[in-house]
Amino acid sequence: MRFIAITSGKGGVGKSTIAANISYLLSMYGYRVALFDADIGLANQDIILGVKPKYTLIDLLEGRANMEEVVVKINNNFLLIPGESGDEILRYKNRDILEKFFEGLKVIGELDFLIIDTGAGIGESVRSFVAAATDTIIVTMPDPSAIMDAYSMIKFCAKSHEELFLIVNNVRSQREAAEIYQKLENVAKKHIKSNLKLEFLGFIERSSLIEESSKKRELLVKSHPSCVAAIEMANIVKKLTNSLTKNGEHIKETPNIAIFFKRLLQQI
Ligand SMILES: Nc1ncnc2c1ncn2[C@@H]1O[C@H](COP(=O)(O)OP(=O)(O)O)[C@@H](O)[C@H]1O
Ligand SMILES: [Mg+2]
Repeated sequence: MRFIAITSGKGGVGKSTIAANISYLLSMYGYRVALFDADIGLANQDIILGVKPKYTLIDLLEGRANMEEVVVKINNNFLLIPGESGDEILRYKNRDILEKFFEGLKVIGELDFLIIDTGAGIGESVRSFVAAATDTIIVTMPDPSAIMDAYSMIKFCAKSHEELFLIVNNVRSQREAAEIYQKLENVAKKHIKSNLKLEFLGFIERSSLIEESSKKRELLVKSHPSCVAAIEMANIVKKLTNSLTKNGEHIKETPNIAIFFKRLLQQI
């Protein structure tokens, strides 16, 4: 099982869009996936996936619902764990949220992937999720401030990970994405850690179909599976699963949820 944190320095770079689409693709390839909307305060995966959760994390924390009632089944292999978009959640200490959350996760059964859609920036919960995740994907886009923020995020993530993945979203061409990746890799090697492996996971072009799908509350890879951006997302998923299995390590054989939980608690 892999715990993948999707994060960025800056908000609005496409983290949630990418998290939803790649979770869906993984589920279509036969993996069991849970997507946790961990952007505390700004959770929006329910809108992206076009569902109306009856309960959210706050109901789990306050004992009004159990995890089985909180999760929303998107398909047989794909569960959404809805986040909380109000500020009520801020009353809870991080550790309390995590403990209840992982107690609950035990009941939803075996998973191959837990995809964590984190908030922007390096807040407390983002730090804990990144440090405990087996893999971290940093999303950026061609905008000087987004690139600077991606650099800060790489610096932070490098404290806990030797290898990081990068996705460049919202580009005009593959070349533009490759240049941004190269620039980031060079400065990261020079100023952060010379042995840091920043792997280019792929790019997604700026696409009016993504905007359109998000307005209609549809998932791009479902409504337009053969458009360029959907193929680019599928390429990202292929590269991700290849990269995770290249050492002969099978996704299904790696650590279970209890280990992730332990790692998380060590962070706080
Ligand atoms: N490649 C893209 N082309 C066009 N619009 C995009 C693209 N990626 C994301 N968007 C749009 O940008 C907005 C922000 O995306 P979102 O995934 O919510 O970002 P984040 O989670 O990083 O804040 C959304 O309206 C989304 O539809
Ligand atoms: Mg988001």
